[in-house]
Amino acid sequence: MADLLLITDDLRHAERLVRDLDGREGCRIHDLYGEAEPAGHPSLIVSDVRDLTSEALVRLRRCVDAVHGQGVPHLLLVHGHAARAEIQARLLGAETLPAAAAARLLPARMRDRAASPPPASAVAVRHAREAGRFLDAAFFAGDPITPTLADTGTELVARAIHEAGIGAWVRAVQRFDDVTHQHILLVAGLSAAFACRLGLSPRDRHHLAKAALLHDVGKTKIPAAILKKPARLDREELRIMRTHAALGHAMLAGSGFDPATLAVVRSHHEMLDGSGYPDGLRGGQIPDLVRLVTIGDIYAALIERRPYKSALTEAAALAILTGMTGRLDADLVRAFRPVADAFDPAATGATA
Ligand SMILES: [Fe+2]
Ligand SMILES: [Fe+2]
Repeated sequence: MADLLLITDDLRHAERLVRDLDGREGCRIHDLYGEAEPAGHPSLIVSDVRDLTSEALVRLRRCVDAVHGQGVPHLLLVHGHAARAEIQARLLGAETLPAAAAARLLPARMRDRAASPPPASAVAVRHAREAGRFLDAAFFAGDPITPTLADTGTELVARAIHEAGIGAWVRAVQRFDDVTHQHILLVAGLSAAFACRLGLSPRDRHHLAKAALLHDVGKTKIPAAILKKPARLDREELRIMRTHAALGHAMLAGSGFDPATLAVVRSHHEMLDGSGYPDGLRGGQIPDLVRLVTIGDIYAALIERRPYKSALTEAAALAILTGMTGRLDADLVRAFRPVADAFDPAATGATA
C-alpha cells in the first residue's frame, strides 16, 4: 500500500475514513490547523477539508508544499460545490474525488500508487509541471488555440525530452492524476521521441510532436463528468467521448493549422481496416502523420494509470500493439519498439 498523508480540518471524520481504508497502517493524519508542518515522504496526499476558506487554502498549500517536492499526487475530496472545488483543485495542482466515494475509491488509488514507478527526476517533474500548467492555460481555459500557442507547447515538450529523456518524462507524467493531462503529455512526449528514433528532420520532428500535442484537443469540449469518470464509460458516454475527434477538428479548422495536423486531430482513431472512427477511413486514406500519432496514442493509453485500471508494462503494451495486425501500420509499430524499450520495467520499477 502507498504511504498516504491525509490533511484534514475534521480529525474525527478523517479517523473514520482511515478506519474504512484497507491500508490504514500506511495512513497518516495531519491536522490542517495544527502547529506542526507535515513531514515524511508520502506517495499520495489526500485533502479532506470540509470548509475550504481562503485561510484553509493557504494552510493547505503550505502543507502540500512541505511534502510535494517529488511530484507527489494530490487528491482533493469534494464535500460541496463541485465546480468551485475543481477551481480550487487546479490552484493546488490536485485532482478532485467525491468525498462520499472516498472510502470506496481510495484503496485502489493507494494500491496503484504503491505499484507506480519511483519518483521521476527533478528535471522531468519540473518540466512536466510546467507542461501541465501550459495545458491548463492554453487548452482548457476556453480561449482559441493558435498555431503559435501550439508551437510553444511543442517546444516545451521537446525541451523536456531532450533534457530529461523519454523514460523520465513518462515516469513524471504517469504521476499526474488528471487523466487527460497525463494522456496528452504522454502522447506528445512519445511522439517527440518516436520522431527522433525515425531520424526525422527538426522541422518534421516538430510537426509530429505538435500534431500529437493537439490530437485530443476536442476532449476539452467533452463534459467533465465523462472525461473524469473514475470508471469505464457506458455505451452512451462512449458515443459522446468519441465525438472529440470531430470536435477537435472543428475547433482548429480555419485557424491557420496545416491540413496534415488537422488530419491527425480528426483521424487519429481511424484504423487501416476501416474499423475506426469518425469516418471509417481505410489503408491509404490514412496519412503517415496520422499513423504515427495513432501508435503513440494507443501505446500511451495502455501504459496510463486510470482510476479503474493499472498501467500495463511496456512489454504487455507492445504485445498489444504488435497484435493489432491489419489495423496499425506494422512497419511503424516495429520502428516504435526502441521508443518503448526506454521503459525497461527492471530499470523503472514499473509494474502492471
Ligand atoms: Fe483521441
Ligand atoms: Fe488520445
